[in-house]
Amino acid sequence: MRITGLGHAGLRIDTAAGSVLVDPWTTPAYLGAWTPFPDNADLDWAALADVDVLFVSSVAPDHLDPELLRRCVRADVQVLLPDSPTSELRDRLAALGFSRFVETRSGQVTELGGLRVAVPALTRPTDGPAGTAMLWLSDGEATVLVQGAARPRDLQLVAGLGPVDVHLLQVAPAGWSPMAYDLPEQAKGTIAADLRAHAFLAARRYVSELGAPHVVPTGGPPAFLDEELAHLNRLGTDSGSTHVDPTEFRDWMAERGYDHVRLLLPGSVADPREPGMPVAHALPAGEAVYADKAAQLRESRRPRWTAPPERDLDLLGELRGWLEPLLARAPGVAGGIGVGVRLTGTDAARGDVDLLLDFPGRTVRAYDGGKVRYELRVDRAVLEQLVAVREPDWVHSLFLSGRFSARRIGRENELVFLFLGNLDPVRLDRLEAWLTHRHAGGEDVTVDGWTFQRLCPHQQADLTQVGSVSDGVLTCGVHGWEWRLSDGRCLTVRGMDIRSGAAGEVS
Ligand code: FES
Repeated sequence: MRITGLGHAGLRIDTAAGSVLVDPWTTPAYLGAWTPFPDNADLDWAALADVDVLFVSSVAPDHLDPELLRRCVRADVQVLLPDSPTSELRDRLAALGFSRFVETRSGQVTELGGLRVAVPALTRPTDGPAGTAMLWLSDGEATVLVQGAARPRDLQLVAGLGPVDVHLLQVAPAGWSPMAYDLPEQAKGTIAADLRAHAFLAARRYVSELGAPHVVPTGGPPAFLDEELAHLNRLGTDSGSTHVDPTEFRDWMAERGYDHVRLLLPGSVADPREPGMPVAHALPAGEAVYADKAAQLRESRRPRWTAPPERDLDLLGELRGWLEPLLARAPGVAGGIGVGVRLTGTDAARGDVDLLLDFPGRTVRAYDGGKVRYELRVDRAVLEQLVAVREPDWVHSLFLSGRFSARRIGRENELVFLFLGNLDPVRLDRLEAWLTHRHAGGEDVTVDGWTFQRLCPHQQADLTQVGSVSDGVLTCGVHGWEWRLSDGRCLTVRGMDIRSGAAGEVS
């Protein structure tokens, strides 16, 4: 078996029984804000993408690159399809001309010639608009798990398939908090450092659980080439960015006695059958490319993003017509947000457009002053673009781009972003159903004198497995959310309270 890095989360895996292409990405994404780093534009994509099987783990634009797939991947390739909650991934691949789909059942092994594959799929709305899938693959000589961006509560499903030789996973969160928030720089730095530390601990937990002899961090960070976003690259400053270079994770693991982390850069090749899995890098600078990142970004020949044209849309009328029917069909989501969200399209020349997404009233109206708990500020032309094309997913366009700013009073309410990431009836119905189910929380369990619901309200992790109790506070080990056990109040995210209390007092 031979594994070739393609940059970011992209891989080519050559086996005795055929070749597999995973998440190839090179086209700038997220409103042009993200570009692969190290740059992979000069790879021989025609040759590298000439494979037998294609696997795309999610519809996020740094995993599904329509332009690259159309240009370089044969339409008659076999396409491994996760057991997704919607047909969105299949539909989008079919629109690119692919038709030889291999439907998988989550966690069950499928035989493809001499290749055994399994595609465990995560299907909650918090796992992305069409879910996120992992790829387990074995050719009889070596076994690989591409966990990628998937964050399951544990890896039991995969561990049951047998020992894994190479474990590839994303080790840092891609997000917008705290970077986008109007906070003092020092506070942003502290919050981001906490988030990065949590992410590393969670990654180490996965690594320990699977026990693979070789570990490869994948999926980022991207390069932010625009001047206004350059601070997200964390070049010599702690700007509140949660992005980390894979070298940081490798060194952090080495300090803790894990010396089996290997880096795959664009064009790097490794064979897991070789002792220690040495990596041959194609980039002349090798892993020193991260030490030289500032110069690499400065000298990048990639074209810079240009803002969308002004459209002079009636934003209030358009958003009313679009969002009010959606608010009406998702009372649980609207009620869970429970406050107004001010949305401002900023424009120094044409003037700002100031709106209120009134979740309690299920309406959109002009903002008429007064205190609000949430404020989002977006360039007016960008907002017009999102509205004009009826972009259903502002998370995988606007928010992850970093091209906005936010202010809030109190804790973050994840539902604000989940709503704005699911702006069509199919997606929103799924979110509403999930929210209703989630509030059940599983049965009550008792630990250290406290009784609480078994399931984490974030992603249903089993709190008896991944939770820890200290000083009356319960912490979920997957993403670090905390609850005050005396009353169930979530200390991390507003509106995510749990059922809890002293043992014997929970009803
Ligand atoms: S699953 Fe994310 S905090 Fe528990």
